[in-house]
Amino acid sequence: MSPFGELGRRLEKAGVPFRRDQPLAPLTWMGVGGRVALLAEPRHAEDLALLRREASGLGVRLETLGVGANVLVAEGEIPLAVVRLTAGAFQEVSIREGQVEAGAGASLEPLIRRTLAEGLAGLEGLVGIPATVGGALAMNAGSRHTEISASLVSVSVVDALGERKILPKSMCRFGYRKSGLKGMTVISARFSLGSGDPEALREAARAIKDEKARTQPLGDSSAGCIFKNPPGKSAGQLIDAAGLKGAREGQAQVSDRHANFIVNLGGATADEVGRLIDRVREGVRRARGVELELEVVRWP
Ligand code: EPU
Repeated sequence: MSPFGELGRRLEKAGVPFRRDQPLAPLTWMGVGGRVALLAEPRHAEDLALLRREASGLGVRLETLGVGANVLVAEGEIPLAVVRLTAGAFQEVSIREGQVEAGAGASLEPLIRRTLAEGLAGLEGLVGIPATVGGALAMNAGSRHTEISASLVSVSVVDALGERKILPKSMCRFGYRKSGLKGMTVISARFSLGSGDPEALREAARAIKDEKARTQPLGDSSAGCIFKNPPGKSAGQLIDAAGLKGAREGQAQVSDRHANFIVNLGGATADEVGRLIDRVREGVRRARGVELELEVVRWP
């Protein structure tokens, strides 16, 4: 039996909900790519720990999927197990005296709205980022204004071997759009927020969202910014200056609104997106001598 077959057998025995051979495109914003061998939706942290432990023992690569806004899935049969934290146990949010405890599967936007309404400051710079709390932490999602690690105190995780741990922020190795949480699954996170006037906070959030709506193709199918900004530079500006805005490979196109976004015009394939990424990289390398690094995560 294949390692995926065996993993499925063990999950079945333990009662962990899962499906085999699942298409991932409908679960991502870019909407491209093939099928993964196994997709699990644990009921609670114990299920998740068992899943990580068994996957590790069988040598199966396991990835965590949030809202799918920053991931590019390859074509075909993908030798990967994926876990989604859709169960209620992973969505819980509690707020007490400026301390927020949020499940990793909770959506960022409603959490931000709630903190702003309660006059809590710190998350308003993250409005308009489509993510779960766990997904945002894994990539240290942010904007020009802030990044999610700024107000973080600690995370509760299941590590690669299936051990549950609490990691203080200092152990999470956050950097610009990166963290040391790769290979783990976040269960929940604790944030410490300041206080502010709810109306002023909401106004600040509104201004950030309006600016994004003006400059980014938010209504289109994309994976957010494709490349990280190189130190002291803007990837969007570099791509734009290299004349690549609007460049197309099949149904994948460099957005003509913001050059660091690739949009799926409808029916694009992962290969088309991949070819466009290569072309953009090559174009910026030739025009400016700058090597762009991917911000989006590629599976496999
Ligand atoms: N620009 C162009 N052409 C373009 C796009 C941008 O010339 O096609 C110029 C702009 O005019 C501006 C500069 O490039 O002078 C920077 O652009 P922008 O203000 O849009 O910010 P960015 O650096 O491209 C970053 C984050 C975004 C975040 C925005 C707003 C990265 C890679 N990008 O974009 O994050 O929303 O700031 O805070 O760090 C993401 O991470 O997925 C993402 C979208």
